[in-house]
Amino acid sequence: MSFGYLKRKSSGNKLKDALLFIWDLKARLEGAGNLLKMAQAPAVSACLDIKPNERVLEIGAGSCAYAYEFSKKASYYVATDIFDMSKKASDRVFPQKLQRLTCDAHNLPFADSSFDLVFMSELIPVLSDPIKALTEASRVLNAEGRLVMVNGGAYLHVKDFFHSKNRVLSLLRKRGVARGKIPSNYDDYHSKLIATHGTNYEFFVDRDTYLKRIIDNTGFEVKKWTYAIRKPANLFYQFLCFERACRTGEMTPSQGYIYLLPLVRLIDFLTPEGPRGMTLLVSCVKIHKQ
Ligand SMILES: C[S@@+](CC[C@H](N)C(=O)[O-])C[C@H]1O[C@@H](n2cnc3c(N)ncnc32)[C@H](O)[C@@H]1O
Repeated sequence: MSFGYLKRKSSGNKLKDALLFIWDLKARLEGAGNLLKMAQAPAVSACLDIKPNERVLEIGAGSCAYAYEFSKKASYYVATDIFDMSKKASDRVFPQKLQRLTCDAHNLPFADSSFDLVFMSELIPVLSDPIKALTEASRVLNAEGRLVMVNGGAYLHVKDFFHSKNRVLSLLRKRGVARGKIPSNYDDYHSKLIATHGTNYEFFVDRDTYLKRIIDNTGFEVKKWTYAIRKPANLFYQFLCFERACRTGEMTPSQGYIYLLPLVRLIDFLTPEGPRGMTLLVSCVKIHKQ
């Protein structure tokens, strides 16, 4: 899976094209460069279970990392976002059956029953009115349509790291604070995390309860509620988040650790039992009114 790989258009300049070729090769080898997305991609793909004849709508597609890969499986795939994605990826080549469109999740420009599957990844926590957005998703889905939502909980254990007496964690934290990279107390760190991700506070505090409440208030019924990535791999990933934040001040550290993907996968593989929790995958169907 060349996950998130987006081939770049020729610039017409030989030297530039040669450099783009190297960039492409690097992208092919590395994928999207997002450790978390890569680690959870097989579970997301299995949950979506896209059939070749299906029409798929992705809402809040961002850089189209998922859309690029998953559109290969569908009859056609529309990736939407509130920001104009063409600016981000104007020099990239997209598959023909992947259409990109700028629109608001709260007001979708599609007729009723236009899609078989609606997919949202990390969208719910950044919406001002998630119930309205799910009602819109229900409207554009056909009677048998499915809604799949992927929502991470990448920072479940960072609070423990922040307060831990472990020597390595304490050292990292003290150096981060001394260098002005992270705040000295967890509450400020937490606020910074929420601000960076634009995440709804209620979601951040208790993701699962929040999502259940949203779903119960729309025309959907949960069919599958599963988690990807077990606790040991989750802890390892979150340690990487914490270490990076303490060292660089960055609060979105997935980029740059892609070479550790085999290790994250190996840790997850070696711990087949035990609690999962980092990524929540929810598959819903429309409730049929009698
Ligand atoms: C956290 S990013 C997730 C991007 C991508 N789905 C992923 O998983 O990598 C949230 C995305 O939702 C988009 N977004 C925010 N509000 C939106 C809205 N009202 N309608 C559609 N997209 C929205 C943002 O522009 C952003 O690309």
